[in-house]
Order: sequence, then C-alpha cells, then structure tokens
Amino acid sequence: MKEFKRYLLTAALPYANGPVHIGHLAGCYLPADIYARYLRAQKKDVKFVCGSDEHGVPITIRAIKEGITPQEVVDKYHAIIKDSFEQMGISFDIYSRTSNAIHHKTASDFFTNLYNKGLFEEKETEQYYDEEKKTFLADRYIIGTCPVCGNENAYGDQCERCGSSLSPEQLINPKSALSDAVPVKKKTTHWYFPLQNYEPFLKQWILEEHKDWKNNVYGQCKSWLDKGLQARAMTRDSNWGVKVPLPNAEGKVLYVWFDAPIGYISATKELTDNWADYWCKKDTKLVHFIGKDNIVFHCIIFPAMLHAHGNFILPDNVPANEFLNIEGDKVSTSRNWAVWVDEYLKDFPDQQDVLRYVLCANAPETKDNDFTWKDFQDRTNGELVAIFGNFVNRTFVLMHKLCKGKVPTLHADVLDDTDRKLLEEITATKTKIENLLEQYKFRDALYEVIDLARKGNKYLQEKEPWKKVTGDKLPVTSDNLGNLQLVSGNQKLVDNALHISLQLTANLAIFINPFLPFTAKKLIYMMKVVDKMLEWENAGKTKLLSVGYSLRAPELLFKKIEDEEVKRQVEKLQEASSKQQSPIDKKENNNKKMEEIKSEESSKVSPMGGDLEGAKSTIQYDDFAKLDLKVGTILSAEKVEKADKLLKLEIDMGAEKRIIVSGIALHFKPEEIKGKQVVVVANLAPRKMRGIESNGMILMAEDKQGKLYFVSPDTLIDAGSNVS
Ligand code: MF3
Ligand code: ZN
Repeated sequence: MKEFKRYLLTAALPYANGPVHIGHLAGCYLPADIYARYLRAQKKDVKFVCGSDEHGVPITIRAIKEGITPQEVVDKYHAIIKDSFEQMGISFDIYSRTSNAIHHKTASDFFTNLYNKGLFEEKETEQYYDEEKKTFLADRYIIGTCPVCGNENAYGDQCERCGSSLSPEQLINPKSALSDAVPVKKKTTHWYFPLQNYEPFLKQWILEEHKDWKNNVYGQCKSWLDKGLQARAMTRDSNWGVKVPLPNAEGKVLYVWFDAPIGYISATKELTDNWADYWCKKDTKLVHFIGKDNIVFHCIIFPAMLHAHGNFILPDNVPANEFLNIEGDKVSTSRNWAVWVDEYLKDFPDQQDVLRYVLCANAPETKDNDFTWKDFQDRTNGELVAIFGNFVNRTFVLMHKLCKGKVPTLHADVLDDTDRKLLEEITATKTKIENLLEQYKFRDALYEVIDLARKGNKYLQEKEPWKKVTGDKLPVTSDNLGNLQLVSGNQKLVDNALHISLQLTANLAIFINPFLPFTAKKLIYMMKVVDKMLEWENAGKTKLLSVGYSLRAPELLFKKIEDEEVKRQVEKLQEASSKQQSPIDKKENNNKKMEEIKSEESSKVSPMGGDLEGAKSTIQYDDFAKLDLKVGTILSAEKVEKADKLLKLEIDMGAEKRIIVSGIALHFKPEEIKGKQVVVVANLAPRKMRGIESNGMILMAEDKQGKLYFVSPDTLIDAGSNVS
C-alpha cells in the first residue's frame, strides 16, 4: 500500500440556505470526522477542511422567499450550520465560507488559468429573460406548470411534487419567480468546459486506476463515462457569485459548481501557509467525503478541472454515502420532512454521541437507509446503554466495591484461558478496526467496538467476581487450602477479573474515541488519565492503567431514551411537515402514510396488491429508471413467527445475499419456492417487519381471483442479472 506523508480531508460544503439535517451528518460529515479523528490519533499530519457554499441559485431563491438579501441569508445560515457542526463535535481544522475574499480570488484565478490556456469554449444560446427585473432566469428562477403532473409551481430544473427533472423549456406557462412576468427568450454568451476532451484521462484514472473505489461511486462514474460527457457551461447570468474575471462579462458569475469545490483550496489557504504541500505534493492523500448527489462533481468535473489546471493532485478516494431516509420517507426540505441538527441539539442536550452512534451504526454506506426514532431508541437503549455503558459501569462499580477503588494487581498464577482469550480479543479488535477504517467501512468498525464491550460483559458474567467475595460460590482452586487462603485465592480471581476489565475499558476509550469523542472524554476523566492515552499506538496494550492507581466514581455515559421522547419526535416531524405542505402535497403524504399502515397490517408487500384495477398515472422514463430491478434466486424461506402472511426469504443476488420479508405465506409453502427465481426491487429502502429488516421487495403478479404468481425470467439465469 502507498505510504502518504500527509492527509487532506474535505467534506462537501453545505449550501448556506438552511440548517443541516441528520442526513447531511450521516452522508459525509460524520464519516469524515471519524476518519480525521482516527488519523489524528495515529499522529498523522491531517487537515480537515470544510465551509459554507454561499453561491448559486439555492441561496438567491431563499433570499427571495425570506425577503432578505443573499448576503443576509448566508450570514444567517453560515452561523447556524457552523454552530451545529461544532456542537456535534465535527472537528474541522477550518470551517470557512465561499463569500470570503480569499475564495473569490482563488476561484477567479483558477478560471483565468484555464481561460488563458484556451480551455473554454465561448457559446451563445437563447435563455429565458425577465424584462421587468432585467435578468436571465436560470434553473429555479423560472416557475411553471409541470408537464408531467400538472403542478403549477414546478421549477425550471425540477418538479418537487412528482420529482421529474425538467428543463425550463418544458414548463407550461412559464413565469419569472422574481416578478411573475412572462419571460422572453434572449441571447446570452457563456463559457463552456468541454468535458468530452477529458474522457480518455478520466476513463484511465477512474475506471482503470480506481477500481478500489466504493461500488456505488465507481458505478455512477462508469455510467456517466459510458454515456459520454458533454461541454458544461461554467458561467451563469447572475449578480450573486464570483464575478467572471473577463472584460465584457458584466452580470456574469462563475457557475456554483465551478467555484464551490475550489472552496476546498481556498479554505486550506486560509488555514495554513503550507497549503500547497497539501494540494500539490503527490505524497498527500486527498479524500473527498460527500453524499451521492455530489458524485459527478467530485469524481468527474472537479478532477477534470484540476487536471486541466495541472498544478494539483487528484483525490485518492471519494467515499460517497447514499441517502438517509426519515421514517420511511425521503428527506424533503420543502416538505420539512427532516430532522434538523440544531433542533436535535435543543431537544437532546449533551446527547451528541447518541446521535453520532445511531447515524454511524445505521450509515447509508452501500445503499439508502432509513432513520426511525424507534431505531434511535432501540440502538441507544439496547447497544449503548445495555452493552457499552453497562460494561463500563459494572467494571467501575465492582472495582470500587471489591478492589478499594484502585486498579488491582494481575496475578499471573491464577490467569486462565478465559482471561487470556479476552486479552487477545483486545489486540485482534485493534487490527480489525484499522482494516475497516482504511476501507471507509465505518459502521462495521463501530460494530467491532460494541462487540468488544459485549465480550467484556460476557467475561464478567462468566467470572462473577461479585459472587466470589460474598461467598455464594466456592472457589475454583479447591485443594486442601485453609480457609484464610481460600479467601485470598478468591481475591486473586476478583483482582484479575477487574484488572482485565479495566484494561479493556481503557482500550474501549481509545477505540470509541474517533466515533464518540464526548464519551471518550468522560472515560478519560473517570480513569484519571491524560488525553494522550487515547493515542492509537496505545490501542491493544493491556497495561494502560497502572496497578494501585485509584480511579474516580463511574459517570453515567448514556441516558436511556424513553417511549415518550420517541412519540414526541415522531409527532414533531409530522406536525412540522403538515404545516409546511400545500393541501395537495399533504393529501398525498397522508395517502402514502395510510398505504404504509395498511401494508404493515395486512403485510401486502406485492406492489400489485389490491391495486389491480386502478390504472396509474403516466410516468416519465426517469421515474422508471429509478428502480433497480434484479433477478434473485430464493435460497431459503421460512415462516415469520406470529405473522401468518409473512415469509422470510433469503435471496441470492449474485454479489450478495439479502433478507426480504414478503407477504406471500398464504399462497406458497416455504419448501416449494426454494430455488425459484424472482424479480427483486433491489433499491427499496429497508424496512422492519416484525423485527426483521427487509431489504427489498419481490414482484408478484396477481390474477382476478387474487392468486399470486412469481414474475421470473423464462429460463434459469445468473442471480444478480439486471431487469430493465
Ligand atoms: N453545496 C453542495 C451541496 O450541498 C455541495 C458542494 S460541495 C463542493 O450539495 F465541492 F462543491 F464544495
Ligand atoms: Zn410534476
């Protein structure tokens, strides 16, 4: 593996047009922070940079909505976002902003560099223009009726009601979002970056040299490159943004996706005079943490820009995450269907680590995942409180009760296999976590930490040090020892159990530190050791706490989440979203909720279920293309307890196996469907049914009599084959 001298980590610059929600955290800020903390614990030279993305249409639209200036918008949200990150412990070395002068200069110079090399194409096109406001209307500045669903408030780039992506020309009755005026077409000149010229370079660099990238990232890049790239306008008609540094470019600014990624460079410049070491030296490892909607910009457009410029290194990896849905629905800021970080912090003060834990344990690393408040409660109470917190607490309480509050001696003469095994587990866990983090598998790495705590609990359960002193259990060394020796023999066993449990606790502090830094701090305090103990080189060591050293009383690490809080949060979400919606949207959402409730009750997972007669409205190809349909082979099927309609299926999907819960138990016997091939909706958000997580859905046909049939290929083919 290549050795790097320094690390430059970036996390996508959030638009300063609203607060951040937990999907943002799970998508990139939390994984980036864990990685940064891990590298710092290894004493690596790390710079972790981010900042607010303050240009572009989202900002100006928000300004119009709130009746304030774009500058006021970004000032307001930059402060809120920055504060949310700080409170959540996201440890940026700098959180900058793209309205800073240093950024305007950096972005402007970058453009000039490419311009001087003759790398832009100047093109004149016709675009909508608002004569009243004397301005061109890009993307979201233009509103009209959606040609697909009839929504009268669709934007020039997208209809938020039906999700279709649109171009301004497709809108029926277009009007300006600024003045309501009917726009006219007017000629305008822009500078295009001919991405197609960089295709050979990108193909070699990504498809050949970066097969190590995550499947979701590599796959998206491949499909862009397979389709062929086109020139993209890198300038816009607007007054908000970085001015195009050319004569006769009045009223033109850089396209936000041209300037924003350069923000990473500007932020590094602002952070350190040595910024060029991080951006230009080949022994720097540059990693972009982003969400999946940013893949094309970070893997194709920005690298092509960097390559064209010539002075900069390219990212070593771009570990993009998929999306986090909330309570079964896609996050939507316009419908206010989101859990906002600033609100979480108000509702759950000092419980940052609980959220960090749940978001990492359930991170959408390979596919979209669902956040539910119930799962938040289950994981907090069942994993953090019952496993990690419980182990640490028991260890401290017992140490105070049975060992006078001091680290007891380790007696080599009575060390047994159980002790040795646990000590070995500590070292083994270190290696496992390192390997997983190097591959950006944060949720698996976190699982190892909890699993080690689980092993600690099991160890204490086996050793039962509390019984040895109260005398409920006879000592294990049972020769002709006198009573006095018996007691001291017992004390030796107690000492060993607690000595080992305490060394394990010290290791847990080191392991959990990148993930839950607030918890690690509490542990450090309880153990009365300095921060230095958390350095990664100490991980796996089993003499971190010295014998005879007295420790503090245990502190509560995690608070249980009560049912009442779960209920309140779910209600809050629903109330906020219903306030925000237009009557039509609201109705749609309620129907959707009703459908979910219905399907939960009757377990009708078949998409045809009950809907046979009702013809559905026309969709666009784009809507269909969102489905990931694959052929799967049923490996096994079993009935789900206490649910007479459900079968739990294990399905071979080629590259992986999946568990899918399907409502077909009344129609098929488990043993008769083994080996059957089915069509699976592979990218359906996972969902819990009777406590089992179902990862996808199988397609079924239903005849008039209500009998179900499998939809399968007409001959046996490879599992995992695409259906399209
Ligand atoms: N503001 C963009 C978003 O929220 C991300 C910009 S990332 C950067 O989707 F690279 F451009 F900075
Ligand atoms: Zn629509």
